[in-house]
Amino acid sequence: MQATAIAQPNIALIKYWGKRDVARNLPAVGSISITLRALYTEVRVELDASLSADVLLINEHEDQNRLPRISACLNRVIGEQRLPARIVSKSNFPIAAGLASSASAFAATTVAAAAAANLSLGTEELARLAGRASGSAARSLYGGFAELGNAGDTIHLSSLCDEQSWPLQVVVAITETGPKATGSTEAMEISRATSPFYDSWIERQDDDLDAARAAIEKRDFASLASIAEHNCLKMHSVMWASRPPMVYWNPATIRCMQTVRKLQQQGLGVFFTIDAGPQLKAVCLPEDADAVSQALSATPGVRKIMTSGLGPAARLVDEP
Ligand code: DP6
Repeated sequence: MQATAIAQPNIALIKYWGKRDVARNLPAVGSISITLRALYTEVRVELDASLSADVLLINEHEDQNRLPRISACLNRVIGEQRLPARIVSKSNFPIAAGLASSASAFAATTVAAAAAANLSLGTEELARLAGRASGSAARSLYGGFAELGNAGDTIHLSSLCDEQSWPLQVVVAITETGPKATGSTEAMEISRATSPFYDSWIERQDDDLDAARAAIEKRDFASLASIAEHNCLKMHSVMWASRPPMVYWNPATIRCMQTVRKLQQQGLGVFFTIDAGPQLKAVCLPEDADAVSQALSATPGVRKIMTSGLGPAARLVDEP
């Protein structure tokens, strides 16, 4: 009645922003992501009849605030009549700071919960369950490049290219480690209700997905760079034009963007993407990763750099 799973966060190159169905957490747009190797969340789920209620420990501290969403995730995977659970989660990177910690946490929780309850579910089913908890978590059930499609009444996941087939590197420039002001779930709804750009964001997404899919298939870095930066900046434009406006960047985020532009002008294979937080993720060709890392480290306001290759899918960890 216990199991441990590990999942890597993923970073969207074509972003999920907006929900079609809030109750079922169905995204309004498809998305394409890469899973990162160096960052991880490990989650142990123990179903224990001696507990009176679920208990959640995150990095050794009891966390009441995040418990309801984790408990709801367990209910969906195992059923509401389950035993209470002790959930112990550890991450090696700052949580709730725009580094996709909810993706790795819910992916690992879903996989561990299913195994603890002795359920044998396929990858896509696990991905759908993880996606009910947090849309981006569905993509962490896949390694390398993954696509979350949203046609019909449910989500569909596919693997576009595994992590060995196009071994890009990602340099994460951490500019702030505190939690973000507005969580993605709430922020997406504010955008849907108030941003004048929201409808055109939704309408144009399929074109961006097509362009990114074609670039990945051809391993065409320049085309992927161009569409990923465009899609990221469009998502942030939707956020900026929302009421209240949601600006996740800080001055260092913009300085990092300028650093990436300078490197591009020097001919390096690099592009940026930014999520609902102030960290910049620079996706680069392996041969340019050291230069990108050095340039971002030297950018004023950058507190920490993490470099990662592309990573594997969420999986169970063998019990000792
Ligand atoms: C900007 O998956 O965190 O990172 O489904 O409400 O939990 P919920 O949202 P979440 O949103 C991710 C938003 C994003 C873009 C992306 O990862 O595609």
